Amino acid sequence: MKRVAILIGGSGSNMVALADSMVGDHPARPVLVLSHRPGAGGLEKAAARGIATAMIDHRAFSDRAGFEAALTAGLEKAAADVICLAGFMRVLTAGFVTRWAGRILNIHPSLLPAYPGLDTHARALAAGDAEAGCTVHEVTADLDSGPILGQARVPIHPGDTPDTLAARVLKMEHRLYPAVLRRFAEGDRRPVFWP
Ligand code: GAR
Repeated sequence: MKRVAILIGGSGSNMVALADSMVGDHPARPVLVLSHRPGAGGLEKAAARGIATAMIDHRAFSDRAGFEAALTAGLEKAAADVICLAGFMRVLTAGFVTRWAGRILNIHPSLLPAYPGLDTHARALAAGDAEAGCTVHEVTADLDSGPILGQARVPIHPGDTPDTLAARVLKMEHRLYPAVLRRFAEGDRRPVFWP
């Protein structure tokens, strides 16, 4: 069994989709949900599922190295094999990424390499794009640009706002991320593209 830590910063809907997928013959189990923000809604949802939780407030640290050392200590204590970033909104340095090389996944709400960073939906709409989507990728020291493990497309409809588009993409995130995690936990890093 692979031991999966899920790092969150907000409502944790992707965390829920991942945690709820790791049952039965799935080769992984959730062992820790860790938030970098106090009060993240995802912490309660994890606790309600019987998953160990932790909160490491990034604002309590004067530098990234200190914050990341605390993260690594928490992940080592949980003996995590795989780390899934799910709405974890902190940039990770090369030091942290090297420590956990090849074991960190992230989901990003765009069709990478388009729109790394923030405000992806507003940027896709402003560009007049016909479609949007989400990407699961391996995390490297370069923001939102590690090897792609899975990507799913959704249409952009006339009249879409950043919120309506985000909701459509998020629904797809909840399908894509569990599917990619399962393949990854089985040792399969070949990317999937939907459709
Ligand atoms: C998701 O849309 C995820 O793709 C995005 O934050 C949201 C978290 O929602 N992540 C990023 O933008 C990372 N750069 P959730 O807390 O409900 O899973």
